[in-house]
Formats: sequence, structure tokens, C-alpha cells
Amino acid sequence: MKFAFLCACLSSGPSHFFASLRSLRETSSRVASLHAAAALCLTLGTAAQAQKAPAVNAAGRPYQDLIIPEALTGTNFDLDLHKSSRSFWKGAITATYAYNKQQFWGPTLILNQGDNVKINVHNRLDEETTAHWHGLHIPAKADGGPHQIIPAGSSWSAEFTVKNRASTYWYHPHVHEKTQKQLTYGAGGFIIIRDPQEAALPLPRSYGVDDIPLVFTSRRFYKNDQFSFEADNDKYGDFLLANGVLDAQVKLPAQFVRLRILNTETERGYDIAFQDNRTFYLIATDGGLVDKPVPLKRMMLMTGERAEIIVDLSKDKVGSSIDLLANNANHPFGFPGGEPGTGRPNGSYLNNITFPMLHINVGERTAHPVLSAPAVLAHNRYWTEKDATKQRTFHITGQPGSPFAFDNVAYSMHTKPEVVKLGDTEAWTIVNNQVFGHSFHIHDVQFSIVSRSSGAVQEWEKGWKDTLYVPRSESVTFVARFRDFSDPATPYMYHCHMSNHEDGGLMGEFVVATEAEIKSGAAVRAIEFRERREHTLTEALLRTASIETGRSAAPFNLADADGKAINFRLLCASKPVVLFFIELNCPCSRDAAPYLSTIQAEYGDACSVIGIVNGSAEEARAWQRQTGAKFRVVPDPELKIINTYHAERSVYTTLIAPGGKIQTAYPGYSASMLKELSTRIAALSGAKAITDAFETAPKTLTTGCPYAIKK
Ligand code: C2O
Ligand code: CU
Repeated sequence: MKFAFLCACLSSGPSHFFASLRSLRETSSRVASLHAAAALCLTLGTAAQAQKAPAVNAAGRPYQDLIIPEALTGTNFDLDLHKSSRSFWKGAITATYAYNKQQFWGPTLILNQGDNVKINVHNRLDEETTAHWHGLHIPAKADGGPHQIIPAGSSWSAEFTVKNRASTYWYHPHVHEKTQKQLTYGAGGFIIIRDPQEAALPLPRSYGVDDIPLVFTSRRFYKNDQFSFEADNDKYGDFLLANGVLDAQVKLPAQFVRLRILNTETERGYDIAFQDNRTFYLIATDGGLVDKPVPLKRMMLMTGERAEIIVDLSKDKVGSSIDLLANNANHPFGFPGGEPGTGRPNGSYLNNITFPMLHINVGERTAHPVLSAPAVLAHNRYWTEKDATKQRTFHITGQPGSPFAFDNVAYSMHTKPEVVKLGDTEAWTIVNNQVFGHSFHIHDVQFSIVSRSSGAVQEWEKGWKDTLYVPRSESVTFVARFRDFSDPATPYMYHCHMSNHEDGGLMGEFVVATEAEIKSGAAVRAIEFRERREHTLTEALLRTASIETGRSAAPFNLADADGKAINFRLLCASKPVVLFFIELNCPCSRDAAPYLSTIQAEYGDACSVIGIVNGSAEEARAWQRQTGAKFRVVPDPELKIINTYHAERSVYTTLIAPGGKIQTAYPGYSASMLKELSTRIAALSGAKAITDAFETAPKTLTTGCPYAIKK
């Protein structure tokens, strides 16, 4: 079974889903024309492009000119992430996120090896973000992973020395559970690193002229022209975007050109080729130049991966055209984007077909064209299995409650990190016994792939890599050396780069620590993560209950599921209030109900328990009936627990002290948390603590959901 969510935790409820489905931007004519496009582009030669008529692709839509993102150079950069919009379709405006002057995506940062750079990131969104420098070998604190939150309206700076080899890297948001959303809106950008070795080679290097950054992704649009990003339902877009342009064309000079290709799909991989099946040459993988140009006719590129290729257009007639294609038809099951059909959750108009990625029009040669490929590019010494002094194995498992997990533990911000000793060389094996392929990425290091259980390591992945494809039923081993940066308190991440999988829990973290830090125990504690944002409902409740401040706020009157008013200000004037935020359909919130009822029962009038259910009044009443919950419930159809709260699972608990101040909050529930809560309520109300009543609750808060770990 493909990834239908077993637990409703991560979806936003059936009614919302249904509404979205109806409004999806789908017409049967678009389906037909796209399939026709796929067929046509294989059979039509370059002559198919009429010179005079507006250029039209085989799908019947006019080509649009590729946008080359502005390039920034220097050592001090400012990136402003803001809401923007772009017209992808004629006459249509789509809301986007972008950095700086772009309307989608961001400027390209050109960095020089050895420079000390400072990048100031300003978050002008109304939600938190982070800025991760994908592929860069930098201190964990500068990494911009889920732990380096940039709250809405604030700024963060990353300072580091550029240590990586010349190649193509990128930056993007990495907020836990929001990466898919922010990537879909278009947040991201290229980083090009230059170094003296690469600079000395006769390679195309004029940015936007013969050296072209190409980021490919696809989007599904609603009928109102907005992007759709409903987790697993939108793993595949219906329309390809090249640098954020639909049906992109570009004019390239009749000489060797360099394409820096990045896949930022949610899940889809590309099996890349040229329309006439010509040979092209791989010159760099994720983390640097390969030893010599590798002649290829086809190359796979999964989400997060980069490849630099050079292709010879010197024999193409000026005025002729050629398409770069994704040969995504007829792959064995498990290839991301090979599933049949066009509907959600697993289909798409671009699935299981060959489709054009970029329409290249051949133009005049430049003044100083590159007309041949260099024979030698670099002298790499890749790590081998013999270099490794430690082995680790990670299984991609999925689990009831979350289909995306390593070794049965879906990632949470409270996950215990793997501990790697500074300077060690390790072999990591990723075992994928699941029915589907994944794209594995690790921060901090560049690795070499040393083996694949299915056979040979592919020609296009013999080089420095930070992201790799793990097909279904396969295991892959890579070797990396973890040097330069240790920090026992700040983790780096490893995860599936399919952003819906990553958001759903297929992620883990590791710290790199010195021997002394490991011995002292500093590196083995779970990373404390305190960032939290209160639900707007809680904030409203607290504002109106701000008796402490002496402000007289209007009473915030809620109605419970029975329509009875709750005056929250009065309610928390003199006694503690426990707010339980409840995900309607998740088994772990049902299982939590008796414990919450116990709190209400045992503390009687000394405390109030209010359950806030993400559903209608009717659904909230039904939940109360089915679970036998003996506390009042308030319906809130807008509540999204996981996203709003960084909650691991289906409940989120907030204790409000008499007077209206948040005493403490927990991203889930467990035996020890309930005991602690009980003690705190007792202290606040003068009642006796009843910690015994929670012996049977799940043992760990990390998993919260009792289905998360099978013992
Ligand atoms: Cu491209 Cu952990 O990220
Ligand atoms: Cu995955």
C-alpha cells in the first residue's frame, strides 16, 4: 500500500480535503494535451518549431522565457524572504514566497572557497522559517536546520568559512513539518561555489550565458490558480516549472554549455535525457567536480540532488531547437513519479510519461566559446569502505501512526541524536524494505557511495554526494568523514528529501562531538528544543484573561460543543485550566481521553479541563461520546495541532495558572508528563497530587502516540 496516512494526525480533515479536491485545477483537455506532448516531443524533430508564429510547445501552450535568478557576489549577503506572487498562467496570479527581488525562488549566491561569509536572513513572512545551506560543510549552529528557527518578522545570520569544493549547492527553509509548504510556495535559491581548481579549467562559466542554473519542480494548481500542498496528496505536481517558469524556453549559444541541474520536486525523480538522445557529460555531482567528464545519455536525478553537465551544441544550427526531457515512463514500480493515473494521492499528469523539461533554442556563438570538454577535471580520493571505522544502519520503516520513520521512530524535535565522534570516518547503510523509493540526504558532509545491494553504483553518482536515491527493496552504503566542527548541543539532520516524507517523520538528527564531550555525556542528551508558538486560540484566551496585567479585556466567550458558553476569563480567574488540543481522528487522542477525564474528576472543582477538538460541534460531541471523555469540549475546525504547535502527536497540553498565565506546555502526553502535570495542578490549587493514576499511560513523551513505538 502506498502512503495513505494511517493516522489523521497529519492531514487536515476530511471536509477540507474534499473541498480541495473539487477545486483542483484539472481539465480533461489538459490531460489530453499533456499526454500528446509527451508523445509528440519524441517524434518531432527540431523543425517542428515554426520560426514566425509565437513558439508553441506540443501541449499547445506558448513557451515562456526562462528566468535566470539574479546572482549576488561578495561576502556579506542579505536574503529577505517575503510573500510574493507570479503569473504562471496567462491572466492568473499565484501567491508565492521569494527572496529579495524575485517573485519565486531566490537570488543565486556565488561564493568563493576560503571566504568568510555572512548571510543575513530576514523573515518577512507571517510564519516561522529557517535557512538551510544544503550541501555546505559548516558549523551546526550556522546550518539553518529545524533548530535554527527564524520567527516571523525577525532576522538570523549565518557566518561561516566556505570550505566546500566548487559545485552547485542550494538554500531552502527547513522548518519541521513546514518544509513542504514553504518549498512549494517557492522558497529556495542556488549557491554556486567557485574554487581555484575549477576556475583554472576551460569550462563554460558565464552565468546565465553558457552556464545555466536550472531548478526543476512541478506544481498542482487549484482552479483559483493557487498552489496546492496538501502533504501526501500533492507529492506530484501536474505542471513542470523550470526556474519557476511554466513551459520554459531558453536561448543557448551554439557551443558547449553547462547546465547546473537541481531537482526540488516534492517526490518526483527525473530520468534526464536529450530529445535526440545525444551524449552529454557529467562534470560535477552534489559536492564537486568528478575526475573526468562522464559521457551519459541518461541520468537519474532525485529530489535534492544536483548534477552539472556540459552538452555540445556546437554542431546544432542556429535557430534549431532541442528539448531536455524527463524519460519518466515505464519505470519499475517504486520510481517516484511512475505511478499510473492522474488523480490524488499518487497520480499526476506528469506521471509515467516522457515530458519536456526545457526547450532549448540554439543561438549565435559567444565571443569566447568553449568548444570541447576538458579531458581531466580533478583528482579525487573518495572514501572507501576500508576508511570507515564505524558502521551504522538505518532502516526506512514507516509505522502505524506515521508512514514515514527511520527504525520505527517518526522524527520529533525531541528525538535523541546519533552521536558521531569528531574526525571519524563512518559507513552508513540505508535499508529500504518499503514499497517505494526515497531520496536520502545528510547534512554537514559530502560522502561517496560505496555499494548498492542491487548491483553497481551508477555512473552519475560516482562523485561527492550529499543526497542519494534509495530505490525500493534496496540498501545503499556511503562513507563520510565528519571533521572540523563539533557541537554536542546542536544537531545536524539526516532525512528523506521528499519533503512530505521529511515533514511526516522520515528524519533524524546527529551531533558531532569530541571524545571528551562524548565521555562527559554532553552529547548523548536529547537536544532541548524550546521554541514553541501558541495556538492563536490560546493567545486569544490569554489576552482576554490577562487579569495579571490589570487590563480589562473583553470576556472571551467560547461555546462548548453543546452550545453552552464558557467565559474563559472567569474560568481561569481563580483556578488552573488544562487545555488539551485534540486531533479528532487519531487513536492516541482517544487513548488520552481517560487520563484527561481523571484529571477533571480527581481535581474536581479545583481545576478545569477543556478539550479543544479540531472539528465541528457535532464531531466534537461524537468524539466525547465515543471516548467517554468527562470534560467539556470546544469545537475548533481551524485547529491544526501538528503544524501550529510542533506537537509530535495528536494531543498538545497547556496548563494555565490561575490568572491566565501559561504555566507549562507539553507537545503530547505520557505517564511522566501526566504525573508532572498532576503535581503542578496540585501545587497551584492546593489539592493533593494523584500521580498514581497515570501509571498505565505511555512511557515516553517523545512518541506521545502509543502507536509510535512497537516494543
Ligand atoms: Cu535540503 Cu535537510 O535539506
Ligand atoms: Cu522518502
